[in-house]
Order: sequence, then C-alpha cells, then structure tokens
Amino acid sequence: MDRIELVIGDITMLHVDAIVNAANRTLLGGGGVDGAIHRAAGTSLLEECRGLGGCPTGEARITKGYHLPAKYVIHTVGPVWHGGNQNEPALLRACYLSSLRLAEEKRLQTIAFPAISTGVYGYPKEKAAQVAVQAVKEFFEAHTEPEKVIFVCYDEDNVQIYSSYLD
Ligand code: APR
Repeated sequence: MDRIELVIGDITMLHVDAIVNAANRTLLGGGGVDGAIHRAAGTSLLEECRGLGGCPTGEARITKGYHLPAKYVIHTVGPVWHGGNQNEPALLRACYLSSLRLAEEKRLQTIAFPAISTGVYGYPKEKAAQVAVQAVKEFFEAHTEPEKVIFVCYDEDNVQIYSSYLD
C-alpha cells in the first residue's frame, strides 16, 4: 500500500494538507499531541476551536492550521480505554473514518495521524494500531481521496508496532 506511510517524529512539523489532533471533547486543548499542536499553531487555533462547541467521541472537526506548516487540523476525540468492553474499538475506528471523510470532503491529498488514544487515554498501542491500519485500508478500498495517509509515531513502542503492521 504506497498510499500509507510511516513517519517517526513530531506531527506539528509535517508539511501536509492536514494533521489530526487527538483532542478531548471540549476541543479546548490539553497535553500530549493536543498541547503540541496548539502551541505550534498559536492562539488563533484555540479561538476557532472555541466556536465549534466541542466534539463527541468518535467524531471529527476541521480547523485552519494557522502557524503550523499543515494547512488544516482535523480534531478528533478518541475513546478512553476502559478495558475494551465499552465500544472502544468502534469509537476509535470512527475517529479514523470521520477524519478521512472530512479530508475527502475538503479534497485534501495528505493527512497525518498520531496514534490516537494511546497516550493519556490509555488505549493499548498494539490494539489501537490494528484498528487504525484496518480502518485506513478499508477506507482506501472505496475512496481515492485523500491520496495518502501518514502514520506519525512519536514513541518507540508505536514505531515498532506500526512498522510490524505495515510490513
Ligand atoms: N507528534 C506526534 N505524536 C505525538 C506528539 C507529537 N508532537 N506528542 C504526543 N504524541 C503521541 C503520543 O506518544 C501518543 O502515542 O500521540 C499519541 C496520543 O497521545 P495523547 O496526546 O496523550 O492523546 P490521547 O491518548 O488520545 O489522549 C487525549 O490527552 O492531551 C490530552 O487534550 C487531550 O484530553 C485529551 C487526551
């Protein structure tokens, strides 16, 4: 699948059409990748987010990228891991599909995802990567846009896990 790439590093540095933010339901910023994206984008991002009125888990919202090299930020809210019996896999899958649909609607060509929910939200990294790769591959079977998905790994665990899944 040459439409899927793996990159190691900081998602805020990527010159892509959209980077995906692992946000919380308020969309008002936080730690982790959410904090990094807001720091790099600047306060205008928070201003735009304030006007969105939050986002339910599994859905996605799009904003401009402001001072980021990425044109847009797609904010999605992953599930908090509670052991796997509270619909977490379906909600995580929905994050990837909702974000891809938004990118398609905007005719974006490149979209970069962090490992949603695998940090503060505690989703097991192996299981999360399986959901992520499966969702993207299924979306690509039926859609020609976006042209490319980049999985961004920021920690060593995810680098190993995504590399094994994508080989
Ligand atoms: N670039 C790419 N990936 C990053 C970066 C970065 N700059 N910073 C962190 N990550 C990775 C983490 O290593 C992890 O694999 O993003 C993944 C998701 O971790 P979190 O950012 O903790 O997100 P999540 O687990 O979805 O929890 C979301 O955390 O920051 C708050 O406001 C956010 O409440 C929300 C919650």
